Amino acid sequence: MPDLYAVIGNPISHSKSPIIHTEFALQTKQNMQYSALIAPLDDFVETVKTFREQGGKGMNITVPFKLEAFELSTQLTERAKQAQAVNTLKFDGDQLLGDNTDGTGLARDITINLNTTIAAKRILLMGAGGAARGVILPLLEHQPIVLAIANRTVKKAQDLKQQFDGYGHLKAGNYADFVDGDFDIIINATSASLDDELPQLPAGLFNNNSLAYDMMYSNEPTRFLIFAKQQGVKHLADGVGMLVEQAAESFFLWRGIRPNTKNIIHLLNQTK
Ligand code: ATR
Repeated sequence: MPDLYAVIGNPISHSKSPIIHTEFALQTKQNMQYSALIAPLDDFVETVKTFREQGGKGMNITVPFKLEAFELSTQLTERAKQAQAVNTLKFDGDQLLGDNTDGTGLARDITINLNTTIAAKRILLMGAGGAARGVILPLLEHQPIVLAIANRTVKKAQDLKQQFDGYGHLKAGNYADFVDGDFDIIINATSASLDDELPQLPAGLFNNNSLAYDMMYSNEPTRFLIFAKQQGVKHLADGVGMLVEQAAESFFLWRGIRPNTKNIIHLLNQTK
């Protein structure tokens, strides 16, 4: 019988995770099956329990259950602790190991797939919600000169700065505070793109060689990427590479094998 894995969320039908993990399993010859599982909004814990009882070995967790998964975990990796959210569960006997592979996925996409170093660069992170918190530690591990967190509600950016101050050089403010920021990498971690909106961005955020990165993955360029292009930015990326890399990192946690990600990123970009 194959080992069972699933992505759990609500809604879940749009998830690309089953396609990605099925390709990884074929490629690395793992005897496993990966499906999409919907949980009722008020029944995440029971749905996980049932999946475990049926022989499940691990799960990916997506919206809106990452906090519940964090609370359910009996052990946490450091990156999950700092993210205060879990996107990967590994079932190990009685233990539920909670991990968060989102930030590492982002950092790997930027450094490996997009061939852009984070070390010694000036980074602007837009947003101070759960998505932003989840990527700060893995970005700081690459030792940028500065990681500036800009948010509409400044207090939330300041709180994140305080949380991560011991890990690197952080700044916090609203978007206008970074008007002459001259950032090398600007990452949109707000949920504004989901509503086809854009935070009020000043001109002057970007330089000639900036990378503009939207963590959201969509078929059409997001408002943020359109804005960046209008500002003359040539290096644009959406979250498809991050999506695949966070999956690869989960797969590595479960199976101890790192799958190749190039083909599936290419395929997802082709089928947009
Ligand atoms: P997520 O888990 O996706 O990060 P969240 O925790 O609700 O969701 O955070 C949403 C983030 O997107 C916040 O940084 C939010 O800014 P505020 O803290 O000021 O609310 C940001 N955001 C959402 N819509 C936005 C918009 N139209 N303009 C600017 N920022 C927006």
